[in-house]
Amino acid sequence: MDALLGPARLVRAARDVAQVLLADLPERWRHTIGVARRAEQVRGTVGPAEGDVLEAAAWLHDIGYAAALHDTGFHPLDGARHLAATGWPDRIAGLVGHHSGAFCVAEVRGLAGELGRFPREVSAVSDALTYADQTVGPNGRGMTFAQRVADMLDRHGPTSPNALAHPRRAPLLGAAVERVERRLAVVLTA
Ligand SMILES: [Fe+2]
Repeated sequence: MDALLGPARLVRAARDVAQVLLADLPERWRHTIGVARRAEQVRGTVGPAEGDVLEAAAWLHDIGYAAALHDTGFHPLDGARHLAATGWPDRIAGLVGHHSGAFCVAEVRGLAGELGRFPREVSAVSDALTYADQTVGPNGRGMTFAQRVADMLDRHGPTSPNALAHPRRAPLLGAAVERVERRLAVVLTA
């Protein structure tokens, strides 16, 4: 990864990396396309210089599911590790590592220390990435946040780390979704 990539090339490079890594996971790739499209739709909620960072992180957020990247088995962390190892900016690796409240699940899985090596930003960009991920289902279909949470709990099961982290994580995700919706309302009426 060329650290000197310009903004537009950053998004293209992110998409290309994700497409290769997720080639054997068509459902995950369709989800990724949906999340990237959603991120594009909410670009207006982040600063003008940050839209490309948001879109790049959206393309890359689930690359940790790729078999080639499997290490800890916790996809946000495995994705962030790969990005750091291949020269992507710390900010992108941090956004991927911490997407959708991953630190809550990392604590349940005993991986909080490892994940904590990556910067966890709390910003309009991290909110928008969470919003995009939490309003698009496994196959790329649009969902409400409530539908997405219910589907996640159903798929992962009641004793999964995701379910155990849910009481702490869900309010954080819901608050991020609400912040993005408020910002979108401002953008749309401006
Ligand atoms: Fe995702």
